Amino acid sequence: MVGVPIALVPENLVLRTIRPEEIDQAAELLEERGEPADGEDLRLVLDDRDAGLPGTAVVVDGDRVVATASLLDEQLDLSGHAIPAGQVELVATAASHEGRGLARALMHWCHDRSAARGHLAQVMIGIPNFYRRFGYSYAMPIPRVHSLTGSVEAPAGITVRRATTADITVMAELQDVEQRTADLRMPHSDGCWRWLVARSGSEQWVAERDGVVIAVGRALPEEGVLGEVAATDPAGAVAVLAHAAEAARGAGRPLSVQPRGRGCAHAAMAPYLDQGTLPEWYYARVPDLATLLVHLGPLLAARLRDSGLGSSGGTGDEHQVLLSTYAQQVRFTVGAGGVAGMQRGGREQAPVSKGGSGLAAEDVPGLVLGPHGARGLEERAPDCLLGRQRELMAALFPPVTSDLLTFYLAV
Ligand SMILES: CC(C)(COP(=O)(O)OP(=O)(O)OC[C@H]1O[C@@H](n2cnc3c(N)ncnc32)[C@H](O)[C@@H]1OP(=O)(O)O)[C@@H](O)C(=O)NCCC(=O)NCCS
Repeated sequence: MVGVPIALVPENLVLRTIRPEEIDQAAELLEERGEPADGEDLRLVLDDRDAGLPGTAVVVDGDRVVATASLLDEQLDLSGHAIPAGQVELVATAASHEGRGLARALMHWCHDRSAARGHLAQVMIGIPNFYRRFGYSYAMPIPRVHSLTGSVEAPAGITVRRATTADITVMAELQDVEQRTADLRMPHSDGCWRWLVARSGSEQWVAERDGVVIAVGRALPEEGVLGEVAATDPAGAVAVLAHAAEAARGAGRPLSVQPRGRGCAHAAMAPYLDQGTLPEWYYARVPDLATLLVHLGPLLAARLRDSGLGSSGGTGDEHQVLLSTYAQQVRFTVGAGGVAGMQRGGREQAPVSKGGSGLAAEDVPGLVLGPHGARGLEERAPDCLLGRQRELMAALFPPVTSDLLTFYLAV
């Protein structure tokens, strides 16, 4: 198929899905502009039965690949409600072609494709500030990075080894247990587990006692980094920590640890760790708030019921909601049956005077997915005004704790 030039791409360039003969060039471009393992990561994604070529785009100048980006399929789980999502990764533009809108055009392609796949949100880790230009905001905190306060003794009778594909099921189960303490969860996709076991950019470790896997972790041993630790037995988490400390010592690096959630592994490692740095943040994007709210109707109904605002389940418990991002607005009814009568509209500069609430478009991902909830956003953002709907907004959009597993470790 002939590539379709997107209006955003300069005239002599073409943006389209990657072709097999372009994989080497795209991989080299990623290595040149990013980390040495990025090319290998692209090959793993492109070779995978779940991902393959359709999620990766290139911009070509003649027969030269000058930019690339990939869209990965993810699934968020918000209090038991699935949200199909996308993650954009492996983004690079050749130095010779920077500043000509190629990354912007690739993001556009990824977001179009994401919408076509039914994704209702996108999440990612990325270079600071850049992705704000494409509708992302800093919505969910990344767990703090901690240093060791002293030495860690390896518990007796536990061995730590590199994981293989045979360990994927048990690793996913351990992460599932660890993530249950969070309201918002994103597990690794099946494909991502395969890439993580195979890639050289990070190592997957499992801790075993008597042949039973009791803990898992992900490390960059040469860089002294440990994250994504999950355990069913505290001693397993300590064994993984001790193994990482040993590896960091061998590499002459201090160890940085990223414990997360409030699960077993966190509690086991906490006594060895300092207070940690300030958290960084995941980027999130909600392309269409109305569609997401309709999708989350059952969750909003449950929150309403739990808050007491919709307790009897009768029609008198239905609430009209007006939510304006000032340039655009949504109006809907929420009640025991979920969200109904969704209407989209244009500018609404004075939502509070009409009984509604206003907030900046960039606060929308945080409203639905973030740790502050509606009330916390109102305290933080001068243009978040909940008005007479305050109690209802607080019930529908409470603070959300999160635990996300992304392709790259956020350290
Ligand atoms: C970051 C990178 C992908 C940008 O590619 P690009 O094709 O030059 O970007 P674009 O020309 O499409 O720029 C889009 C917008 O972002 C801005 N921008 C470019 N680089 C930026 C940066 N590092 N930080 C913030 N804004 C940036 C541009 O000014 C432009 O703004 P505008 O549309 O308002 O004019 C490219 O510089 C690169 O490959 N860097 C090395 C690898 C990397 O960091 N990849 C991202 C990993 S998350």
